[in-house]
Amino acid sequence: MKMVHAIIKPEKVEDVKRALESAGFVGITVYEVRGRGRQLGISWRVRGHEYRVDMLPKLKIELVVPDEEVERAVKVIMESARTGDIGDGKIFILPIDQAIRIRTGESGIEAIK
Ligand SMILES: Nc1ncnc2c1ncn2[C@@H]1O[C@H](COP(=O)(O)OP(=O)(O)OP(=O)(O)O)[C@@H](O)[C@H]1O
Ligand SMILES: [Mg+2]
Repeated sequence: MKMVHAIIKPEKVEDVKRALESAGFVGITVYEVRGRGRQLGISWRVRGHEYRVDMLPKLKIELVVPDEEVERAVKVIMESARTGDIGDGKIFILPIDQAIRIRTGESGIEAIK
């Protein structure tokens, strides 16, 4: 199993949720986060003053999927989250040792079906 972390533009969350659901990925956790990438946030000038916000609001989606579904999940997220502009986000993939459904005690792949 793998954990897919996707940090996306907040305005894309409904599109990504819908796309994941259509592709059969229903269990997700969503966080409101702040972050910055290689542009170090955004800056703008007003009447000679430089303003900067370095930590921009982003949305983080976590989902745990079977190893063989990782590629498909990543593709769904990329296609639904992408605008083509800077700040579209990042996807990180982490190994997961175990998953357990509390109600039934099912574990492993059974727990994430
Ligand atoms: N190396 C990183 N480690 C952890 N989080 C990151 C990293 N890079 C980006 N992020 C997170 O992803 C969010 C979006 O990053 P962003 O899409 O701006 O990446 P980027 O590398 O600057 O690419 P782009 O040039 O397309 O903007 C950031 O606000 C931050 O929360
Ligand atoms: Mg960036």
